[in-house]
This record gives sequence, structure tokens and C-alpha cells, in this order.
Amino acid sequence: MRLGFVGTGALSSAIVTGLKSLPGETTPVAVSPRNEEIAADLAQRFPDVRVAADNQAVLDQCDTVMLAVRPQIAREVLGELRFRPGHHVVSLIATISREEIASLVAPAARVGKALPMPMIARLQGATLVCPPDPIVAAFFSRLGGVIEVEDQSEFDALTVVTATYASYFKYLDTIHAWVRSQGVAGDKARDYITSIYKALANAPDTMPNADFMHLAQDYATRGGINEQVLRELTERGAFEAFAESLGRVHRRIAGG
Ligand SMILES: NC(=O)c1ccc[n+]([C@@H]2O[C@H](COP(=O)([O-])OP(=O)(O)OC[C@H]3O[C@@H](n4cnc5c(N)ncnc54)[C@H](OP(=O)(O)O)[C@@H]3O)[C@@H](O)[C@H]2O)c1
Repeated sequence: MRLGFVGTGALSSAIVTGLKSLPGETTPVAVSPRNEEIAADLAQRFPDVRVAADNQAVLDQCDTVMLAVRPQIAREVLGELRFRPGHHVVSLIATISREEIASLVAPAARVGKALPMPMIARLQGATLVCPPDPIVAAFFSRLGGVIEVEDQSEFDALTVVTATYASYFKYLDTIHAWVRSQGVAGDKARDYITSIYKALANAPDTMPNADFMHLAQDYATRGGINEQVLRELTERGAFEAFAESLGRVHRRIAGG
């Protein structure tokens, strides 16, 4: 594989960093010159990474090209480029459909979407790949895992998961702020919360056949303090409001 990136921003940088952290990894990578600082940093850190003269030079040097510009400029940028029929195009642009990308990169015939997350830099967090593609799946499976997705509607629904990170941290922050209000030092509270939530994140792996509600019930001992918080939040509609918010995000993503 000769890999190229059109758009060298946060996400491209994370993918290249993750890729090049793999032992013995020598895939040649061409990155576009924007962002100048990020491109130069990648080329300086990794001997197989070169900064191409422009976006067209990226395409000319690679067989597999990841599109990682912001959606607002994607149509203009792609419209100016000449793709080859043999180019394998992987769009990382979250909000433009595979069909539209395929029309913008014609005559490239093999076109798919992938949704990696920035934690790929540390080889963590699975990447969604749509439609299933053995080459793209093999690539991302080494970088934190891959979930292959059959169609756009499944892809859109799973994409909604990525809208919940900030509220997850707000949830932890609520716990942290409350514990601090009781006079506990901030660092101590942070260390404890981090340690416990890391352990909880492993629970689904230790009980692979249990769904999340089963895990919730497992922790909610009858009459206990977990049951109390779960019941009080449920009664006040916290989870219902959360689910409604997911629905609104989905309508935004899927354009419905
Ligand atoms: N970051 C995420 O968590 C994430 C997750 C999933 C999907 N995505 C998708 O990935 C894409 C990139 O996201 P990002 O977070 O990496 O954004 P970003 O950091 O803004 O990177 C986009 C890069 O494109 C460069 N650029 C601007 N004009 C260009 C042009 N004409 N030709 C080539 N490159 C150009 C920008 O350079 P300048 O800085 O010089 O303007 C910037 O470095 C987006 O479509 C986003 O939807 C991002």
C-alpha cells in the first residue's frame, strides 16, 4: 500500500501516529502540505512520511487515499483533483455520503467511508468501515480495531455514539465536583474516579454475553446506593432526555 492523505489535520496526524507506532511499519505515506506545521511534524517524526507538493501530488504518489479535509471545503477541493480508476479512496469526512464522494472522485471505482477517532494515535477505539472492505478493515484493525458496517443507515446510527463523549466527561465532572464540594482534594478525587471508571470500562469484556442493562442490574444491588441513583435519575427522566438527544443528533447526521 502507498498511502496518501488529502488534508493533514488532527485526524490524519492521529492515524499516521498510530500507524507508525506499530513495530516494523514501513508503509510509505504522502501527506498534503496543509496544515504546514502538522505535515512537517509528521515528516520529521517518521522517515516514511513525505510532504507532497500539493493535493494532486498526493494522489499521484499513492494508491490508497484518505480524504480528511473539513466537509465545508471538500467539494471544492475534490473537484479540482484528478483521480485514477485504480485509486482506492477512503473518505473520513463524516457528513458527506459515500455516493456523493464517489461522484466527486470518479473515475476512482473503489470508494468507501471510515470513521476513526483521534484516540487511534494510541491504537485505541475501533474504526467504523462502510461498506465492508478487507483492505481497509485490515488497515484499521491494527490501529485499535474495526467494526465493519453494511450500509449508510447502520453507519449513521453508529456515528451517533461519537456524539456522547462530551456528556460522558460532564458525567464524570459532576461526580468530581460533588466529591470536591465535600472537601476532598481535586487530584485525589480525579485519581479515584479515573481508576474506577477504567475498571468499569472493562466490565463488558469480562462478561461478553451480558448486555448493558444486565450490567446495570448487576451493579444495582436491591436497596443499595447504585439502585438509588439509577432509580432517581430514571424517575427524573435523565435517560429519556439523553435518548431523545441521540435521536435529534441522528436526524442531523442522517438528514432526516
Ligand atoms: N477530528 C475528529 O475527531 C474526526 C473524527 C471523525 C471524522 N472526522 C472528519 O475528518 C475530517 C478532518 O477532520 P480534522 O479534525 O482532522 O480537521 P482539521 O484538523 O481541521 O484538519 C483538516 C485539515 O485540512 C487542511 N486543509 C484546508 N484546506 C485544504 C486544502 N485545500 N487542501 C488540503 N488540505 C486542506 C487544513 O489545513 P489548515 O489548518 O492549513 O487550514 C487542516 O489541517 C473532517 O471531515 C471531519 O469530519 C474528524
